[in-house]
Amino acid sequence: MRFLSGIQPSGRLHLGNYFGSMKPNVECISVADRSFYFIVDLHALTTLHDAKLLHEYRSDAILDLLACGFDPEKGTLFFQSDVPEHTELSWILSTVTPMGLLERAVSYKEKAEKGIATSVGLFTYPVLMAADILLYDATHVPVGKDQKQHVEIARDIAAKFNHTFGETLVLPEPVIREDIAVVPGTDGQKMSKSYGNTIPLFGDEKMIKKAIMGIVTDSKGVEESKDPDSCTVYKMHKLFLTASEAKKLAEKYRAGGLGYGDAKKMLLETVMDYFAPMRGKRSELEKKPDYVREVILQGAKKASAVAETTMNKVRKAVGLR
Ligand code: ADP
Ligand code: TRP
Repeated sequence: MRFLSGIQPSGRLHLGNYFGSMKPNVECISVADRSFYFIVDLHALTTLHDAKLLHEYRSDAILDLLACGFDPEKGTLFFQSDVPEHTELSWILSTVTPMGLLERAVSYKEKAEKGIATSVGLFTYPVLMAADILLYDATHVPVGKDQKQHVEIARDIAAKFNHTFGETLVLPEPVIREDIAVVPGTDGQKMSKSYGNTIPLFGDEKMIKKAIMGIVTDSKGVEESKDPDSCTVYKMHKLFLTASEAKKLAEKYRAGGLGYGDAKKMLLETVMDYFAPMRGKRSELEKKPDYVREVILQGAKKASAVAETTMNKVRKAVGLR
């Protein structure tokens, strides 16, 4: 089993990223034959055109991933843009990708509806993602539910390529934890860097507090009974709890007497406690820039060796060698 996944450095990494992608990818390293995790900085360019910010978010993302437990000795951690084969394969795949396949991509439509400026890059985003996956012969791709369709598109593109040029690429499948699937943002919609509704993992506690206290709820008073399943504060809190702890908390919501203000304070405490050890590790890593640079360098080297092997097969299959 080859596990692989990517994350965009288009903002500060958040609870949705952690539970939907970082945690499952860290956990699957132990059962993987090989594991790849990369920061998809070329994808981030589809929504972020600010060199200084992109540079900052890239550095933050590496520290966040290492702090959250990604072991660069066991898995390969790197920046997408350090391996130019991603864009080369993306172009070749685009020539076998039917327009209709991309026109059906929900994520593009959602981003366009949210007012994100559409570009050719945003439209062909799933092709670059397919290249990301297919370059490494990945069999399993742990992602949040929002990315399921993109992995299926990668699979369709691989099948089309193999049908056209002969068996070359491995067909991947998405791995989605149904109990997490979609982490809601402070406004109740999917938490996303593009929607400004995130709770960041790290950074200033005041900022995290502000985000949590700003979670949108209904206007029920303290004494009223509340429905936990439709409450964003509860849905977020549940991510940190065992099944029996979650059940107990749900009962408190239903019983009345728990105001949203207090429920949010409880959530804040849980978030701060849970990430405290990772926060500590992150501060340590900030003091070791040479170590971090070495991780990135070695990651790019390991990834390039695999990417180059696949590209040689692809170039040969299509007649470029
Ligand atoms: P964002 O939407 O914040 O830009 P990315 O697109 O970089 O996040 O997503 C990186 C990974 O995190 C993907 O696997 C994605 O499915 C997962 N992810 C992002 N937001 C959520 C969420 N709200 N719930 C679950 N998983 C998420
Ligand atoms: N599109 C993914 C997202 O927005 C990020 C991504 C890019 C990715 N390439 C990937 C995820 C390859 C998994 C595998 O979340």
